[in-house]
Amino acid sequence: MIDLRSDTLTQPTPGMRRAMAEAVVGDEQKREDPTVIALEERAAELLGQEEAVYLPTATMGNQIALRLLTEPGDELLVEARAHIYRYELGGPAVHAGLALKPLATEDGRLTPEQVRAAVNPPRDLHMAPTRVLALENTHNGGGGRVWALDRYRAVVAEARGHGLAVHLDGARLLNASVAAGVRAAEYGREADTVTLCLSKGLGCPLGALVATSRELAPKARRLKHLFGGAMRQAGIVAAAGLYALDHHVDRLADDHANARRLVEGLAEAGMPVDPAQVESNFVLLDVGSLGLDPDGAVARLRAEGVLLSFASKPGVLRAVTHLDVSEADVDAAVPAIARALSGREAPVAVGLDAPTPY
Ligand SMILES: Cc1ncc(COP(=O)(O)O)c(C=O)c1O
Repeated sequence: MIDLRSDTLTQPTPGMRRAMAEAVVGDEQKREDPTVIALEERAAELLGQEEAVYLPTATMGNQIALRLLTEPGDELLVEARAHIYRYELGGPAVHAGLALKPLATEDGRLTPEQVRAAVNPPRDLHMAPTRVLALENTHNGGGGRVWALDRYRAVVAEARGHGLAVHLDGARLLNASVAAGVRAAEYGREADTVTLCLSKGLGCPLGALVATSRELAPKARRLKHLFGGAMRQAGIVAAAGLYALDHHVDRLADDHANARRLVEGLAEAGMPVDPAQVESNFVLLDVGSLGLDPDGAVARLRAEGVLLSFASKPGVLRAVTHLDVSEADVDAAVPAIARALSGREAPVAVGLDAPTPY
């Protein structure tokens, strides 16, 4: 099987496993784990912030950040297909008591005008005070889209003009950084809080960071504990994070090159893809335009040995390149996808070991 469902599927490499086995550890909850502390210091600098807090997941990072920047009853502006809005189970409402205002875009990137129009009039006593803007880079739901630094800064400046705090969901910020040729800190320092995920393209088994100012960091640590995220000998996994920052950042360019190779191969094979929209490690396939429903298309693909996942747009599937996808995998995936979706192959299988013709 060529598994292109997500970059969360990466397996720790032998080198990463060695680094984990050799990690010097301590009680992280007591701030006595030197490996966690080293990772936090490194991440703070990387993300253009003063401190960073090591966490199990990026979802926890986003939720801590929003809680940090707001009070219950405040309003959050967020793109309508952002992870924070769509895939965190309503967490901003549950954990921070926020009202959410989703703003629709084609590709995940808001405009300053959208932000301006969305801010509630500050003197209107009947409306939730708009307090925070959350941005995502790369934007998962938009198809791995990368913010140009100028556009990003313009949107942040608009938010600041209205007194808003800014959170950056940079789960894949290093993909954005590598793709745009912009240091992650350039994006990160514009925000009040930044989340980075280690368990996606960076290849760690788990782990994330939320970075912020020295002033807000103690509260971020308190919220981490409150949310049940304070750990013990977490240096075992933090060592994977340090290893990833040393060895797996520059190579994200390979994933992006593989995504480009994939989309160009698929375009040449007449598949419904748009090479112009591929900016990092995601390729979107509009199977709806072939008259296929996504479930059926996934089953056909599986029968040809390729796994894809649903994208957040209806009728669209997603292929994601990562550490465990080689150029040879891409070259094998292109004809397999074309066979599966061209409709010339019949019958197709549903499920791995229980083929059901339909
Ligand atoms: C943009 C974005 N933010 C946050 C997350 C959450 O990451 P985690 O699974 O570590 O909670 C994801 C996961 O896919 C994501 O794509």
